[in-house]
Amino acid sequence: MEDLFLKANKIVEENNETPPKDRYRLNYHLMPSKGLLNDPNGFIFYRGKYHIFYQWNPFACEHGSKFWGHFVSDDLCDWKEIEPALTPDTKYEKNGCYSGSAFEHNDELYLFYTGNVKHSNGSRDSYQCLAKSKDGIKFEKLGPVIDGPPQGYTKHFRDPKIWKKENTWYMVIGAQTKDEQGRVLLYTSIDLKKWEYKKEIAGSQINGLSEFGYMWECPDFFELGGADILLVSPQGIEENGDKYNNLYQTGYFIGDYGWKNNKFNHGEFFEMDRGFEFYAPQTTIDSQGRRLLFGWMGMPEMDDEPTKKDGWIHAMTLPRELDYKNNKIYQKPVEELKKLRKNKIEYHEIKVKEELSLDGIEGDSYELIIEMSAIEGRSGIRVRTSETEKTDIYIDVENKKLIFDRNQSGEGYRGIRKCDLERVDRLKLHIFMDRSSIEIFVNDGEEVFTSRIFPSKKSQGVVFYSLEACKLDKIRYYKI
Ligand code: FRU
Repeated sequence: MEDLFLKANKIVEENNETPPKDRYRLNYHLMPSKGLLNDPNGFIFYRGKYHIFYQWNPFACEHGSKFWGHFVSDDLCDWKEIEPALTPDTKYEKNGCYSGSAFEHNDELYLFYTGNVKHSNGSRDSYQCLAKSKDGIKFEKLGPVIDGPPQGYTKHFRDPKIWKKENTWYMVIGAQTKDEQGRVLLYTSIDLKKWEYKKEIAGSQINGLSEFGYMWECPDFFELGGADILLVSPQGIEENGDKYNNLYQTGYFIGDYGWKNNKFNHGEFFEMDRGFEFYAPQTTIDSQGRRLLFGWMGMPEMDDEPTKKDGWIHAMTLPRELDYKNNKIYQKPVEELKKLRKNKIEYHEIKVKEELSLDGIEGDSYELIIEMSAIEGRSGIRVRTSETEKTDIYIDVENKKLIFDRNQSGEGYRGIRKCDLERVDRLKLHIFMDRSSIEIFVNDGEEVFTSRIFPSKKSQGVVFYSLEACKLDKIRYYKI
């Protein structure tokens, strides 16, 4: 039998030796050397290094039998891809080592993930499995510790996220009831081997929520700034105005968890990101106590992207730090990303009427921070412009909205995404452009738009514009 691990690892090694140079390849984001990447998994700071694993099909640009690919970094900035951590070569995971999380125990690194098994009659099984490593590189599989869901749930039972509180291990997991309501279940364990099902902590049609999706994937549960946060990716939510416009959603509930009665009192669902490609994020807490997040810059079933011609598809977002204030989560790019900055260009106090380009501000790989005020009428910025292409980000003053428009961005999916703004007379945009991706942090992370765009190489322009008037108070640009 061919050795799947060796075959996948060869792809990693070849990519490290001779990185390909295709035009949409990202310059400073994590992406697969070949094949398909989806969810970030096992994000952890272990023995002085950050580890991020990812759902990986090394052999095709489609979803299939997933491996766990593995990147390691000292600083969240320079990453090295090492050998895959998990290979789907055992019967309880023969159709994929699906998503999960990592934790440290007795100085060893453990992975807790879903073994996915599909049967020829279309049915499936899901096992929750453990693996561990002494060096953080080579993992020994310990096999399943949970064989299937509790009574009343389907086999859509996956993506365990684990943490320790006092002497107890806790786990949240995505689930679906037999009548197709998405739920998050909570388990506990004392010894990591025997797991006890406690209760549903949130889901469609419970805790005051109405019908809210048929399956909830990739839950994450943590404390942030005094609040308990459930981050989750529900499937099957109806579009509602500018909300829930993507095929599947990712967002969070803020609440208060009663550890004695295991009851989660929570409020409404907030969408985490307003762009087109953002799903299944996962957080960790690092040695500085920061709550950090990676998301998947992709969407299930939206796999018609032009990079497939070059043998790869999808990527990871930049690492972000989360903060809780004003009853919401703020996201900002991690501090360490400043190391990527080259050639600073700065401008101050520029009036914009109609259109304006600024010397030196252009390209396809940069960081751009724009502080605008005195905004009257539609005002914004177009990036990756040429005669035929543009990606437009602007304020719609009348409707108090920020709009991201990729209808003329180039190849790939098109469309518009919007979010409400409280104030439209001023705006701060922090943009990371990376060849075929864009992340826009709005007003210091109050909202974020994450999307892929596929402009041609010649589309390198940046245009500031206003249909009436606005002022650019401060512009900072760094080539990356
Ligand atoms: C989310 C997801 C998870 C699953 C994994 C499989 O994108 O469907 O629920 O574990 O991807 O790759």
